[in-house]
Amino acid sequence: MTASSNSAAPVEPGQSAAERSRALRDTLGHFATGVTVVTTLDASGEPVGMTVNSFNSVSLDPALILWSIDRSSLSYAAFTQSERFVVHVLKGDQQHVSNLFAGRGADKFGQVKWHRGPENVPQLDDCAALFHCRRTQNIEGGDHTIMLGEVLEFSASGGEPLVFHCGGYRALAGE
Ligand SMILES: Cc1cc2nc3c(=O)[nH]c(=O)nc-3n(C[C@H](O)[C@H](O)[C@H](O)COP(=O)(O)O)c2cc1C
Repeated sequence: MTASSNSAAPVEPGQSAAERSRALRDTLGHFATGVTVVTTLDASGEPVGMTVNSFNSVSLDPALILWSIDRSSLSYAAFTQSERFVVHVLKGDQQHVSNLFAGRGADKFGQVKWHRGPENVPQLDDCAALFHCRRTQNIEGGDHTIMLGEVLEFSASGGEPLVFHCGGYRALAGE
């Protein structure tokens, strides 16, 4: 496919920084992802969590994953300072959980089933898969910080995944 056959708008010479940023975000949105909720504890031991689709695998040996956090997130201090975090891969019927944890500073844990897992880190019930991680590195990445984690424990219960594409939730296409 040539660049000219794509429907996304090209970068215009007269575009403002905000317009260009919006266009970049929209274009990046063509890359379909799963949806995760990442949880940790803040300095006073309270549960913290946010919806994340920047999650990805990095290495099998050692077992490493990454995700990136917006520096303006209310949860930024908790995630960049805590030793542990848990990545939960959401199922197709957990759109409400994704929306809940995408709320800024909302009362997130009062509205879902969860329990304290290893090291007391909050663990959501009924997810497709989860990865309990030790934070190994924070890597500066512009307006985000890349969180690198070593996977200590993991499990999967399966089920259809929640998919995010072009700013909306999708079902996985059948075979
Ligand atoms: C599908 C989806 C994926 C998201 N992925 C990320 C992400 O990878 N990194 C990030 O910092 N924010 C991401 N967000 C936005 C955060 O979930 C949102 O800013 C949330 O309010 C952060 O919570 P906090 O401000 O209470 O910390 C995503 C939101 C949605 C709906």
